Amino acid sequence: MEIDFRNIAAGGAVACALLPLHERAAAAAPDPLPARLFPWAAEHPGLRDFRGKEDERLLLYAPAGASPAERIALLGLGKRDRNSLKNLRNAVAGALKFCRERAFASVGLPTAALNALAEAGLGADTATLVRETALSALLGLYRGDLCRGKGNEDEERPADPLSFSFLFSGVDVPAALREAARFGAGEAKGVVLTRDLANTPGNRMSPALLADEARKVAETYGFSCTVFDDEQIVSMGMGALYAVGRGSRNGPRFAVIEHCPAGREKDRPLIAAGKGITFDSGGISLKPSASMHEMKSDMAGAAAVLGLFTAIGEAPDRDALPRVVGLIAAAENMPGGGATRPGDVITALNGNTVEIQNTDAEGRLALCDALAYAQKSYTPALLIDLATLTGACVIALGDYGSGLFTEDDSLRAAILTAAEQAGDLVWPMPLWDDYDKNLKSEIADMSNIGPREGGAVHAALFLRRFIEKGTRWAHLDIAGPGWVSKASPLLPAPGATGAGVRLLCRLLRHPGLCEHTP
Ligand code: BES
Ligand code: ZN
Ligand code: ZN
Repeated sequence: MEIDFRNIAAGGAVACALLPLHERAAAAAPDPLPARLFPWAAEHPGLRDFRGKEDERLLLYAPAGASPAERIALLGLGKRDRNSLKNLRNAVAGALKFCRERAFASVGLPTAALNALAEAGLGADTATLVRETALSALLGLYRGDLCRGKGNEDEERPADPLSFSFLFSGVDVPAALREAARFGAGEAKGVVLTRDLANTPGNRMSPALLADEARKVAETYGFSCTVFDDEQIVSMGMGALYAVGRGSRNGPRFAVIEHCPAGREKDRPLIAAGKGITFDSGGISLKPSASMHEMKSDMAGAAAVLGLFTAIGEAPDRDALPRVVGLIAAAENMPGGGATRPGDVITALNGNTVEIQNTDAEGRLALCDALAYAQKSYTPALLIDLATLTGACVIALGDYGSGLFTEDDSLRAAILTAAEQAGDLVWPMPLWDDYDKNLKSEIADMSNIGPREGGAVHAALFLRRFIEKGTRWAHLDIAGPGWVSKASPLLPAPGATGAGVRLLCRLLRHPGLCEHTP
């Protein structure tokens, strides 16, 4: 579906125009906006019945010959409060599905309606609303069924609308709005890639194929990219990542992708490292069968890094962005004759030895080498890792919350702000020194597991052992929100969500986080 701007004064028309409106009291007169934009609607009795409640939707047909829309769909946003932006995203995403089911080829939304929302104090300016609308329109159409055989696609399956247009009348919209639509579409493209990668079954998404995806993103957008194969992983000294991948015929890979705008070569980069376990069977410490298939998405962190690079590549301001490096620690965690045994001791890239007491705690092993690599090869301005790391984090924060672990107060504040803007649920979690001793091993520098209680904290403390003094580091445990079992307007279920992509897009633009060295 194309996103564009249409001048209705110059004859631009759509099959269905969306009008998002806040809730009004029953006694109050209908919202004046529909009648102002579509004079015929003033006389329409339906307008009086529409209250604007959350999830309310009313389709009104224009009289024959009326323009610029054959129909208008009033979308209820509920009460004006801090959920309004979320409600706008959901209303738009749900409306696009509604339009698709009815085979409306062109959908529009008047920018005047977004101006009215911005003026009514939605807590965001019109450009932000344009961005969020474009994003929601595209994500609302996302389908997670990637694997139908040729000829077996559902014949009833309606096609997407061809276009989504921001409607304006007469004077051209400010350039900032056109740019905002491109931002939204680019972020949606990143989220879609992340969902597609994380939804892909393990037999179709090996570490080598995930590394190929990194190469593809790099080629498409002109980023640099290096991939290390299993032999290079061993010779570099990444014993932890290798230990995770060695049980599989599909050997591990380590990919480095970099966006470096001209003149920023000397800048300290923002580094995003992703856990890329293409399938987590648990290894010799085999997982129980129930829900094991969901572990095809145990590379959601790595997929989010590639989604971020897609969004950067698509962004109109890409050359003004900081230098960004993405690291992908990819491995398949499988049992087998060559697999790591519980009790094995390995040496990580930074020289520390780890006793692997449980092969199912593999994400921290893959990531610890990525974190060591980040600090060995660069001086990061910020180092952020994203990982579907622990079931314990899901127990702590539920299906939708990400755990945020950092000791840097300003970085924590910046990430929480970015999460709020992105509509992600993120909550700070502790890195208590007292718990660190629980990672003690009798024979090596540390064990890869602590007690079950506080499992998410112990996993984060394990990672902290690989952080050097002075590195600004944050860890996001996305085990819960990486995958959903319940559908919502923005997300088909069961399936991968693309969690983390938009948060990183916002964080990248947080003022003052990454400084430029001229
Ligand atoms: N990939 C899992 C964590 C996970 C669980 C992600 C549920 C998404 C949903 C991770 O590798 C794992 O198995 N962690 C273990 C650690 C334990 C063995 C210390 C866990 O959480 O049980
Ligand atoms: Zn595991
Ligand atoms: Zn895992």
